[in-house]
Amino acid sequence: MFKRTKYCGQVSEEDLGKELVLCGWVHRVRNHGGVVFIDLRDREGIVQVVAEEKTYPQAYKVADSLKSEYVIAVKGTVRNRPPGTENPKLKTGNYEVLAQEIQILNISDPLPFPVDEETHISEELKLRYRYLDLRRESMKENLLFRHRAYQVVRNVFLKHGFVEIETPFLTKSTPEGARDFLVPSRLHPGKFYALPQSPQLFKQILMVAGFDRYFQIVRCLRDEDLRADRQPEFTQIDFEMSFVEEEDVMSFSEELIYTLFSELLGIELKRPFERLSYTSAMERYGTDKPDRRFGLELIDLTDIFKNTEFKVFADTIKAGGVVKAINFKESNLSRKEIDELTQFVQSLGAKGLAWIRVEEGKLNSPIVKFFSKQEIEELLKRTNAQAGDTIFFSADQRETVYKILGNLRLHIAKKYKLIDEGKFDVLWIVDFPLMEWDEEEGRFVALHHPFTSPKEEDIPLLKQALETSNIEEKKKLISKVKARAYDMVINGYEVGGGSIRIHKREVQDLVFKLLGISQIEAEEKFGFLLKALRYGAPPHGGLAFGLDRLIAIMRSLDSIRDVIAFPKTQKGVCLLTGAPDYVSPKQLKEVHIKEME
Ligand code: AMO
Ligand code: AMP
Repeated sequence: MFKRTKYCGQVSEEDLGKELVLCGWVHRVRNHGGVVFIDLRDREGIVQVVAEEKTYPQAYKVADSLKSEYVIAVKGTVRNRPPGTENPKLKTGNYEVLAQEIQILNISDPLPFPVDEETHISEELKLRYRYLDLRRESMKENLLFRHRAYQVVRNVFLKHGFVEIETPFLTKSTPEGARDFLVPSRLHPGKFYALPQSPQLFKQILMVAGFDRYFQIVRCLRDEDLRADRQPEFTQIDFEMSFVEEEDVMSFSEELIYTLFSELLGIELKRPFERLSYTSAMERYGTDKPDRRFGLELIDLTDIFKNTEFKVFADTIKAGGVVKAINFKESNLSRKEIDELTQFVQSLGAKGLAWIRVEEGKLNSPIVKFFSKQEIEELLKRTNAQAGDTIFFSADQRETVYKILGNLRLHIAKKYKLIDEGKFDVLWIVDFPLMEWDEEEGRFVALHHPFTSPKEEDIPLLKQALETSNIEEKKKLISKVKARAYDMVINGYEVGGGSIRIHKREVQDLVFKLLGISQIEAEEKFGFLLKALRYGAPPHGGLAFGLDRLIAIMRSLDSIRDVIAFPKTQKGVCLLTGAPDYVSPKQLKEVHIKEME
């Protein structure tokens, strides 16, 4: 076999007149009678190889027998392409390699789909033949971009004195709130390892051990329902720091994201990143991960309609609910379009979608007849209404209104293309509540995880809440307690989250009690962490970024599957390998699992 001397995609001016050996895949081959043109491809790109019958008949003969995706080695000399035949789309487009000898290193079966960008292929087929899909330029670029991101990230960590340490995969359940993947133990019948949902507990223990600054680019495993931005195994850029407060973790996180955008995309993000409180995010966008690349903010109208004749609004407000609206400016919507949007919110469980179309000199709406003159005036003023606008109302319990209008906002933005796609909207969400009431479970649950520290000044509220037996009073007190937590959101996706942790035993006990986690349960589940915290735990905090999400957003891709080499489908299946799969009765027996009937 010839020894390669250069990558195809790197053939350049300096190679003119030189003899090279190139290796790669036959991207395209066409015979023009006496001359065969081969687009030869490797990781670095494509170069044109020419085989001429008159100059090198042997090479021509081999070239004439080539088919798509054959693997070949070519010995040849580089020359300029004849004037007028240059290809400006290729990096190597001014040159061609005149083949003297061609070796076929391997042949290829006919392809299930062509390895180029133009062809539209079903995702199922692509995942089944992932190795061919990954030969496509865009997929290859996605993974090479991801590779460059690892290097940038590592450099930023190294510059700031972080130590890279691996944490176990076979471990105990971690409290990130999703379902665990379990691995049966062969040596301990009936016992299971849990695969880590994150290195959370271990990174805290590393702080107790004194490593001061830890990082890891690490796989996390969560058995949750999948979506375009969720995979059962995904990668976190995880870190933890000792002797720090929120500002330290946030400013380091900003440097990491700033550097990624600047080095990989040439985009200088404005620092410090904007911050929005959880409450304002919910009030203005109906979600704690707002996409602010477009308007359509939620406007509160509850006070305007508290004495209204319109029964739907009046009853809702009386029952403790709220009335909010969004104004779709200059939309000039038709009835049909309004009906479509109504159906959309009804599919989310909305009871209805009241609307007003603002027209020149009048209001077109089935509900304005119930409103007083003053209500109408205030409403138009608050929503800044003008002819051409359509105002949509949702009246319900606060959380429901957030959900309905938050989703309607996104739906309208996508449907009517209001999103400025070239833009990156980066922000922090801060001042999260520490806990929220879970109606189904009938108890408080941690919004982040149970090791997140409450704000110092709110600790007395927690103590008061523990003392009162009146549940409404308890809810009220707890709703005021804020967490020392922060999430980073880009273009409506949560790309990272973290917090300052509890490092004092009394506070941890208090939080566990309010979360209804008994001492026995706490001991059983994370006794090892609690014990570690008793041996001189420094104040500490950290954050984890979702690497797959970050890369997908940076490359403007809708699905994180496009930035993962071997992802699972929405149903959690690996179409390439066929996992998950049955195993042999012998394997089952070894891990003490009975075969299914
Ligand atoms: P959290 O659970 O918020 O925090 O996870 C951190 C980030 O990981 C990403 N992410 C996911 N990405 C793809 N698929 C998933 N199934 C998935 N789940 C989460 C998100 C998210 O922001 N231990 C804490 C971090 C800390 O407190 O330091 C943690 O895991 O982008
Ligand atoms: P109804 O009185 O039920 O016919 O409703 C009158 C209008 O109010 C219709 O346009 C409904 O879609 C709308 N509507 C009903 N319930 C709600 C609600 N909870 N929030 C907003 N609009 C509603």
